[in-house]
Formats: sequence, C-alpha cells, structure tokens
Amino acid sequence: MRAHILVLLPLAGCAFASFYGNSPAYTVPLDESQVQEAVEAAVSIRDAPNNVDYRCGPKIGKCPIDTCCSSAGFCGTSKAHCRSPDCKIDYGHCDAHKSPYGPPTTDIMRPHIGQVPYGPKEIRSCSIPGTVALTFDDGPTRYTGDLLDLLDRYGAKATFFITGINNGKGQIDDFSLPWASLIERMQSSGHQIASHTWSHEDLSKITPSQRREQLEKNEAALRNIIGSFPTYMRPPYSSCSPDTDCGNEMGKLGYHIVLYDIDTDDYKNDSPDLIQRSKDIFDHQVYAGDPHIKSWLVIAHDAHEQTVHNLTEHMLKTMKRLGYRGITVGDCLRDPRPLWYRKDTRMPTHKQKPKKTASADPNKPISFDGSCGSNYTCMGSSFGYCCGSTHSCGNTTTHCGTGCQKDAGYCAVEAPSNGDAWDPTVHTKGKKSEADSNSRTIGTAAAISLFLALIVAMWM
Ligand SMILES: *[C@@H]1O[C@H](CO)[C@@H](O)[C@H](O)[C@H]1NC(C)=O
Ligand SMILES: *[C@@H]1O[C@H](CO)[C@@H](O)[C@H](O)[C@H]1NC(C)=O
Ligand SMILES: *[C@@H]1O[C@H](CO)[C@@H](O)[C@H](O)[C@H]1NC(C)=O
Ligand SMILES: [Zn+2]
Repeated sequence: MRAHILVLLPLAGCAFASFYGNSPAYTVPLDESQVQEAVEAAVSIRDAPNNVDYRCGPKIGKCPIDTCCSSAGFCGTSKAHCRSPDCKIDYGHCDAHKSPYGPPTTDIMRPHIGQVPYGPKEIRSCSIPGTVALTFDDGPTRYTGDLLDLLDRYGAKATFFITGINNGKGQIDDFSLPWASLIERMQSSGHQIASHTWSHEDLSKITPSQRREQLEKNEAALRNIIGSFPTYMRPPYSSCSPDTDCGNEMGKLGYHIVLYDIDTDDYKNDSPDLIQRSKDIFDHQVYAGDPHIKSWLVIAHDAHEQTVHNLTEHMLKTMKRLGYRGITVGDCLRDPRPLWYRKDTRMPTHKQKPKKTASADPNKPISFDGSCGSNYTCMGSSFGYCCGSTHSCGNTTTHCGTGCQKDAGYCAVEAPSNGDAWDPTVHTKGKKSEADSNSRTIGTAAAISLFLALIVAMWM
C-alpha cells in the first residue's frame, strides 16, 4: 500500500514560517518503510546543530523552489549545490535547468547527409591511415587556451566535445565569461567543435525529453557563438545505453555518435606522479600499429591540468616521431567540413553584430523576441534598434526618445547631428579572414547610417 506524506523539513528560525507561507508543500508518494526512513531522516536533520539545509533526493523529495539538490542530498543555492552534473536534476533546481539565450533549435531540419553513419551507430575509429584524431571532452575550461597554443605549435588539429554548463563554469554563451571566445578560437584555428551535451548528465539515466533538452540546449548555446551547431556528439561517460532509446534519439536529432579506440584514462591520472600511466597507455597502443595502415581516435579531457600541460605534448611528440598527423574526427572520417555543423539562419551570431556602437554594449546578445534591457540589446535586432522604457525594441520615437535605454540599443536623443555614429572604417579595421566580410560590414554600417538619418529627420 502507498501513502502520501508531506515532507516538511524545518529551516532554522523564522525562515521556517516563510517557507509555509510562500511555497507549495512538497509531496512524494512513498511506501511504508520509506515513510519511516523519511521521518527518521527529517528528525535527524531537525536535531542536527546549525543545520540550514533541507535534505533532498530519492525517498526524500524535492528542494524548495529555486534551490538546488546537491550530490550529497542537501538543498541550497551555493555554486557547489547547483553545479551540474553533480546536482540532482529531478530533486531541485540545477545549472542544468538554465537555458541558453535565443530561440530553441527544435525546428531546424536534421537530414542525414554524407557517408558517415548517424546514431544509433557508435563510431569508434578513424579511417584515414597515418592519422590520429585527438579529442578533448568537457571543456572549455581555464586550461583550454594553453591547449590551443600547444596544438598551434605542433600544427595539429583536434576535436573538442564541448559541454555547455558543467562544473560550475557558467554557460558557454555568457559572453562575459571566457568560454565563447575560446570556442570561436577553436573554430577559426581549424579544430572541430562537437557536442558533449549541455550539463553532462548520464544520458542512460534520464528521460527521452531530458536527453533531447541536453542536446538542444547545447545546440542553441553553440549557435549563439558560432552561428551553427555540431552534427557530432559524444555521450557523457560514453553512456547511451541500448536499454534506452538513446542511440535512436541521437540519430533522430541528426547526430553522429563518436566514441574512441584509445582511452588515455587521463581523468584518473591528473597529477605529475600519475600522468605517466596515460602516456604509457597512449604509447603502448600507438607504437603497436603501423602508421601506413593505422589510425587512432583518442579520448582525453581539457578539464585536467596534466592533460593540457603534460600529456598532450607527449602525445604530439609521439605522433610526430612515428609520422602520424593530428587531424579532426570529421576529417579522419572523410566527412566534408560543411557536414560537421547545421546552420541556424534565424539569428545573427555574436560575431556579426556591429562591433562598435555609440553606446550599446557590444557583448550583449541581440534580442530575439523584441524584449530588451539588461540582458538583450536591440542593436541589430529585427524589431528595431532602440530599447524603449517598456523593455521592447522598436524604431519609433516612443522607443528611441525619452526613456530609451542606451545600454540596450540605440537612442535617438544622443544621435550626432550628422547621423554618422557608425564610422565604416571602424568595421574594416582588425583581422577579417573571409573575403566577403568587409563588404558586408560596410553594408551594415551604411544601413545604420541611413537609419540614423531617418531618426534624426523624425526628431526635426
Ligand atoms: C609531467 O609528467 C612527468 C611524468 O611523465 C612528471 O615526471 C613531470 O613532473 C610532469 N611535469 C609537470 C610539469 O607536471
Ligand atoms: C539577466 O541575466 C541574469 C544572469 O543570467 C539573470 O540573473 C537576470 O534575471 C536576467 N535579467 C532579466 C531582466 O532577464
Ligand atoms: C529599423 O530601422 C532599421 C534601419 O533603417 C531597419 O533596417 C529595420 O528594418 C527597422 N526595423 C523595423 C522593425 O522597422
Ligand atoms: Zn565528459
């Protein structure tokens, strides 16, 4: 028989009363032995000195609204409580529940093109003799910049399986953090960007809709940075169990599932004393094969200091000595580069935004739904360039005049009288690799100047 019990766990002092007053009570269906356990747990917590936390987790229940359930089963709001993947996603709020900016990628077509198999097939090896595809999971992290320098020094290309919001690092599409620029650098240096899910949950232990969310959120975040999202993914913990529908779901989402044939075990050996073990694993396998016929697909993690500052250079040296080239997974599978990503043409990327504006913060993401303010700018949005007092974008005097928010778009009251706030030469300065980018930015500048003239005319 099942009973419904109310799990009401006490907070210290007056917070207790406000919990009753403002939050819904949390009920969980439990059997009788579980009831006893839960009551005991509740009692022991109440008796614990200085306890300010609720307990949470299986058999206990969820945390109050907006608090996170830590891996040890305590509710709280600290970074340690909320960091994914440790935070329990079914028992409270977690970093995993945060979302990337902009519209979801759900509606984007995902045709299976090219020769490389899509999920549920798992790819474990490369197919071009004499190549090694080094892959790095879980980043970007504070070590990733050093890794990119190292790869550049050796002229090697690698593949990065990016996780959107793991280990308390914040979300990759938060442009106030260093992650987005590292991802842009990967892209411009010729490395491959692939998905390692939004918050690194074990895909075999979550529901189909949670799996989809794990992939789609990372897609939107990467789209916000490079304008497109990957067709290659690696399941966290290499776990996409056939007992679930995980593999088929990855296929439906248009993904190639990539595993490896050399596991460096680097995450177990992240100290100067132990990393030699990972070097030995790599050498042992690579030396055993003939570079004229062999290729390798290697897993490592740029989340680890020794991987970046010790193991990787060792691997690159070994490769060089034996005559292996370091290339990306897509290249080593002979997949044409345009098939590595799917474009989201609906949103301008961070890069395509005007780099210098009269006042608006150039790092703010562009409004996608017409709302604006502290987090979104109207500059470059399709709803108009001014952010009005009602937090909406528009081109009218209501938006651009009194109450206009100058940190979230253009404001007419500050327009220079010649309407020339955007100096086209500003856009042509700096490094631009694509031949067409200059004419495009000049075109944008011209359009904006025209718009300014219009605004000024409106105000005369
Ligand atoms: C690199 O690894 C070796 C073992 O292979 C170790 O002796 C050395 O101290 C490590 N170097 C650094 C800088 O950690
Ligand atoms: C803006 O973003 C921050 C951090 O992502 C968030 O805490 C805040 O609620 C957002 N503000 C608005 C108005 O959406
Ligand atoms: C606002 O003005 C700009 C510049 O003239 C123009 O490109 C854009 O389409 C306008 N947007 C709306 C919603 O009228
Ligand atoms: Zn991982």
